Amino acid sequence: MSDVIGSVLYTREQIETRAQEIGKQITEDYKGEKVILVGILRGAVMWMSDVMKNVDLDMTIDFMAVSSYGSSKKSSGIVKINKDLDTNIEDQNVIIVEDIVDSGITLNYLVGYFESRGAKSIKICSLLNKQCNRKVDLSATYVGFEVDDLFIIGYGLDYDQRYRNLPYISYLEDEED
Ligand code: IMP
Ligand code: MG
Repeated sequence: MSDVIGSVLYTREQIETRAQEIGKQITEDYKGEKVILVGILRGAVMWMSDVMKNVDLDMTIDFMAVSSYGSSKKSSGIVKINKDLDTNIEDQNVIIVEDIVDSGITLNYLVGYFESRGAKSIKICSLLNKQCNRKVDLSATYVGFEVDDLFIIGYGLDYDQRYRNLPYISYLEDEED
């Protein structure tokens, strides 16, 4: 059975505008300080590239890859590190760049991980926030857009590794049967 793609929720232009606003906000918030943006592969790549071009600070980037087991539409709750940081983040201002905060389990785990590595500060910059599905007490400081209880695809977000290339945010329609 083939997937049915829903309507466009947020266009590329809307996302780029939000990235400009958030990049400016980060620039103000960390004035005079250094930051490291840590992108979470692979979903955050488009959003990360949009945000970073709007940050006017002394900054570096790194990436991590994590997975919660399985390829279904639900997070399993078990987080596994597939690619660790290449950077020592001790005493650094870390901004975690994510595609979506859903249950919050992945980011909750990562915040704890960065704390254990001695980060000076840790904030989250997520393209999307799906508040209705939160399972842990966690909120992102910088959020592009709120989304409802839908399975989101596009602009980096996948279903079974597909649709990351869509230049807008959409969702998968519920299967009929
Ligand atoms: P968590 O439930 O907050 O731990 O989300 C973990 C990861 O699940 C996110 O970083 C996404 O990669 C993925 N995810 C959660 N909700 C969606 C969605 O609606 N579409 C695509 N991926 C999602
Ligand atoms: Mg994913």
